[in-house]
Amino acid sequence: AGDARDLAATAATLEELEGLLARFESCALRFTAKNLVFADGNPQARVMFVGEAPGADEDRVGKPFMGRSGQLLDRMMAAIGLDRTNAYVGNVVPWRPPGNRNPTPQELATCKPFIERQIALADPDILVCLGGVATQALAGTKDGILKSRGRWFPYRTDKREIRLLATLHPAYLLRQPLQKRLAWRDFRALRAALDAGRP
Ligand code: URA
Repeated sequence: AGDARDLAATAATLEELEGLLARFESCALRFTAKNLVFADGNPQARVMFVGEAPGADEDRVGKPFMGRSGQLLDRMMAAIGLDRTNAYVGNVVPWRPPGNRNPTPQELATCKPFIERQIALADPDILVCLGGVATQALAGTKDGILKSRGRWFPYRTDKREIRLLATLHPAYLLRQPLQKRLAWRDFRALRAALDAGRP
């Protein structure tokens, strides 16, 4: 993971980072995935959403949140005035794990320097972690997502400290639709934070 970190640090732009990942061979997932799934949306945006890992639809298209979870995410974002022109979207792991299993701790560790660099280069004001995997990877908490959701964590990039909001993953909300009221609270808090930060 040390060399992945040194490598990721050499990327001066998001395009360079994507290029590095396209040539990176130290994560086994890349050999079973069809496509690298790097990002979607506007890297200039003030808010960045980070999910877990691509599924079959994302693997086919090469962009994050393209399937049913993505459709729900788009509706939740739209409810607070966000879409992929004013938000940036990525995943902690940029290749689909076979059969949509969870990424292993080793795969997460290998990929982490790249998502951290991606966040630093996009430099959003607010980072939203979708689900427990992204939250545990980036917020520095071991708490489960039902405990950490709705909480704001400090997130340090090499440039500055920004705020990280943990919330529920849309795939979970598809299975547990009654929990959408919790996600809705988080999205309203996100909207308020974006409004408060506007000059
Ligand atoms: N779930 C995720 O975490 N990310 C995607 O891109 C799609 C589904």
